[in-house]
Amino acid sequence: MSPRDPGSPAAVRIAPSILAADFASLGPALRQLDPATDWVHLDVMDGHFVPNLTLGPALVASLRPHSSRLFDCHLMVTDPRHHLEAFARAGADSCTVHVEAHEVGAAIADARALGVRVGLALNPDTPASAVLDHLGDVDVILVMSVFPGFAGQAFIPEVLGKVRDLRDEIDTHAPRVDLEIDGGIDQDTAADVVAAGARVLVAGSAIFRAADPLGAARALRQRAQSA
Ligand code: DX5
Ligand code: ZN
Repeated sequence: MSPRDPGSPAAVRIAPSILAADFASLGPALRQLDPATDWVHLDVMDGHFVPNLTLGPALVASLRPHSSRLFDCHLMVTDPRHHLEAFARAGADSCTVHVEAHEVGAAIADARALGVRVGLALNPDTPASAVLDHLGDVDVILVMSVFPGFAGQAFIPEVLGKVRDLRDEIDTHAPRVDLEIDGGIDQDTAADVVAAGARVLVAGSAIFRAADPLGAARALRQRAQSA
């Protein structure tokens, strides 16, 4: 467990996704959210794996002093092996690669060797079976509940069955693995995803596009814990 991860895999954790924030004021935004959140979710897109370009290691390093929370880098990139070391050096505590990306097994091993927590993400149309062989090698499974690329998309309810299946697999075979969900998480969907078995909730728009982001993060945790 990373020293910056305060929770057990059974506890609900809230991970604001900065993709929905105003990039000109990220430092103050992270400082404000620090007391109400657990992880900070950093969406890295290469313009190839997904049709969008976002942020690189320089921004991660710049943000590191502004947060005490676990930095959760979600690498939506075709070749994660080309980038892992730079993000680990920049201050990532956890690096998640996609099972649909190139050289996944080697990327997981590379991330492990770099000493960061290791996550494996799967797209909405990728079956749970695609990640099962890797369950023993990772710390996090990240279920995408939108197609990756942009904040502000609608939650895809069909992924809930996959969350339930992965919860069962994790409970049986790898109980230390965190089950994270990303995309369209808000007051309306939080309780359902927790009831299905997710425990780390990524939220972009629901936090950063709220009039009161700190209050929104607290309300999201309350809603999630009510499941
Ligand atoms: C989508 C990203 C998500 C996204 C979440 O590709 O991985 O982290 O920013 O944003 P919301 O919560 O607005 O769906
Ligand atoms: Zn993400």
